[in-house]
Amino acid sequence: MTFSASHPLVDGRTSDSPLIAAYQGRRPDRRPVWFMRQAGRSLPEYRKLREGTAMLDACLDPGMASEITLQPVRRHDVDAAIFFSDIVIPLKLAGVDVDIVPGVGPVLGSPVRTAADVAALPELTDEALNPIREAVGKTVAELGSTPLIGFAGAPFTLAAYMVEGKPSRDHLGPRTMMHADPDAWGALTAWAADASGKFLRAQLEAGASAAQLFDSWAGSLGLADYVNHVAPASRRALDHVRGLGAPLIHFGTGTSEILVAMHDVGVDVVGVDYRLPLDEANRRLGGTVPLQGNIDPALLSAPWNVLEEHVRSVLSAAAGAPGHVVNLGHGVPPETDPAVLTRVVELVHSVAP
Ligand code: CP3
Repeated sequence: MTFSASHPLVDGRTSDSPLIAAYQGRRPDRRPVWFMRQAGRSLPEYRKLREGTAMLDACLDPGMASEITLQPVRRHDVDAAIFFSDIVIPLKLAGVDVDIVPGVGPVLGSPVRTAADVAALPELTDEALNPIREAVGKTVAELGSTPLIGFAGAPFTLAAYMVEGKPSRDHLGPRTMMHADPDAWGALTAWAADASGKFLRAQLEAGASAAQLFDSWAGSLGLADYVNHVAPASRRALDHVRGLGAPLIHFGTGTSEILVAMHDVGVDVVGVDYRLPLDEANRRLGGTVPLQGNIDPALLSAPWNVLEEHVRSVLSAAAGAPGHVVNLGHGVPPETDPAVLTRVVELVHSVAP
């Protein structure tokens, strides 16, 4: 399977963009920057458009999802769009009873805890992904030479929500299940891998130029659990989109101790959270892996001179890496002043790459 001739990476629209160049380990003439969670609650135009529409309904309305994806690109001059959707959309499209409760996060009608629960999970069909393809197609038609990044949740983070049935702090349910019932755990993470893999593939085929796997909660795992009970499923998710030529990025939080194992599932770029300086991340990864990160989101509310110094230190800490895409060390906090994000973009672009 290959991309069609009209895909932005094939027809040349995005293949030499600063983002794709940096992801491929080249040094483009400006340092690319985008922000995780740039599409969303920190923007007044987002809040206005979303009024009266539930989160998952907004994700499944191709016109609305596309418009929300484009808003931060217009406003901030970031070097990439991130597709407006959510990690639980593949579950929803498969027919799982899931919703996103404002202020809480993903909540399931019934948690998935036994082998029988896993066996009863519906399969995600290719056809169900049509609203995603349509939204991506509309978005890419507007973006021109700015690449769209597709994304999905990694199987552990998805399974963490599915087993608990709601957000949790320590993820005890999934961490127990992987040892207490490894067969059911293996089946659950394989199901989640295929759902996320199909979701990623739909976005890439419809025109996304890169794809990021979010394993937001992988930092709750020790290395042995990650390698033995999680990494094979993450690899399986990415197998759905390998070899297309689109850079693959892997990100999680609290992952300093498992960074190498996250690279080893087979990705081109590692996203680093705010806890680990990029020079140390680069050292741990052997100096061969392009990095993404890692401005501390907490500093977006600090005085400008404090934030500026921090951004400059992130840029210099990445100097030894083969490529660097500037991002936050986690998502944009909802209360962030959007003008600060615009100013960070201007600063990053003003510094010699
Ligand atoms: O801008 C972007 O990054 C693109 C869109 C995006 C959303 N969710 C939109 C969203 C992306 C990439 C995600 C990924 C996602 N969703 C992750 C991984 C990234 C991370 O932050 O660690 C996770 C863990 C989820 C699950 C999820 N969805 C949570 C925890 C929440 C927050 C719940 C709340 O209200 O506090 C959501 C909802 C969500 N996803 C919102 C947005 C814009 C907020 C919903 C709203 O605006 O009403």
